[in-house]
Amino acid sequence: MQHLKSNNSDIYFGEIGYQKLNTFLSKNPFSIIFVLVDENTHEHCLPYFLSQIETKVTIEIIEIESGEIHKTIETCAGVWNALSELNGDRKSLMINLGGGVITDIGGFIASTFKRGIEFVNVPTTLLSMVDASVGGKTGIDLGNLKNQVGVFNEGEMVIVDSYYLNTLAKDQLFSGYAEILKHALITSNDDWKMVKNIKEKSLEALEDIILRSVTIKNDVVLEDARENGLRKTLNFGHTLGHAIESYCLTHPEKPILLHGEAIGIGMILAGHLSHQLFDFSLDKLKEIKKEVFSLYSKVDFSDEDLDKINQLLIHDKKNSFGNINFVLLSDIGKHILDVSVSNDQITEAFAFYRN
Ligand code: GLY
Repeated sequence: MQHLKSNNSDIYFGEIGYQKLNTFLSKNPFSIIFVLVDENTHEHCLPYFLSQIETKVTIEIIEIESGEIHKTIETCAGVWNALSELNGDRKSLMINLGGGVITDIGGFIASTFKRGIEFVNVPTTLLSMVDASVGGKTGIDLGNLKNQVGVFNEGEMVIVDSYYLNTLAKDQLFSGYAEILKHALITSNDDWKMVKNIKEKSLEALEDIILRSVTIKNDVVLEDARENGLRKTLNFGHTLGHAIESYCLTHPEKPILLHGEAIGIGMILAGHLSHQLFDFSLDKLKEIKKEVFSLYSKVDFSDEDLDKINQLLIHDKKNSFGNINFVLLSDIGKHILDVSVSNDQITEAFAFYRN
């Protein structure tokens, strides 16, 4: 397996990651090591992780509740208090062992505790391996609005170990596929061919796909860490996807969607907007829809739902100067940034999704 260099951190794949982490621990005089987990990674991932670690430094485990609804300032306050009570100081290290919620919130907590302590991400879900743990976005939600507060900070290193995929329920594994599909769609037809029919792939093929997907993301981050231009392509499918995810999270009559499910819907909608506005091929759009529907169930949206989802778009972080900005494609691998779309065009895109 391999190693990628990011702007300020290293990404290691497989067992070499633990060797590098152990060297890092031996070379840096950390006062205490905190491992942030949720109840799932505590039970299923922590024993294996600890068996790979060699250090004489005290290790303290801090557990938070799993799930996006806990990616809040209240959870941060609980962890900051725990760090303080356990005598955390500027020389403490935080290791975030978990999915996207753990790496997002853990990176934010570490970046702000005592004005910043060092941290390492060990993603345990596919989603976090190929997206959340890489590229330095950390943060929390504000009410039903996702990722409204946070900082850019890559941490010291990321260890991507496919061992943890064995601990995942099928829906959690599938949730990560959406970001892999997205990375392929914004990059090239060859990448799209590589990932099509992704759920049929063997673990070996999936490891190659993960490496490729992280490489795509890292290349984008290397060129545009602060999302001034190229990094916006990583938001393909996310403008409506995030609004749908937030909407479903706060409406009990709707299914709670995993991130990948919402982004899958968002990619069909963005694909259709791309078709309406930039002649994105209908055949390729149908391929996207087929791929997404092979992974996730269709969600029913009423006209009232659509109105409310449209209202949520106003809070999207990607907006500027009051415009709602979409990333669209004229072809696979050919992006157009900062596109304004009308409500009617969004309604048409939903009609395509619903039919
Ligand atoms: N998940 C999108 C990004 O990291 O920019």
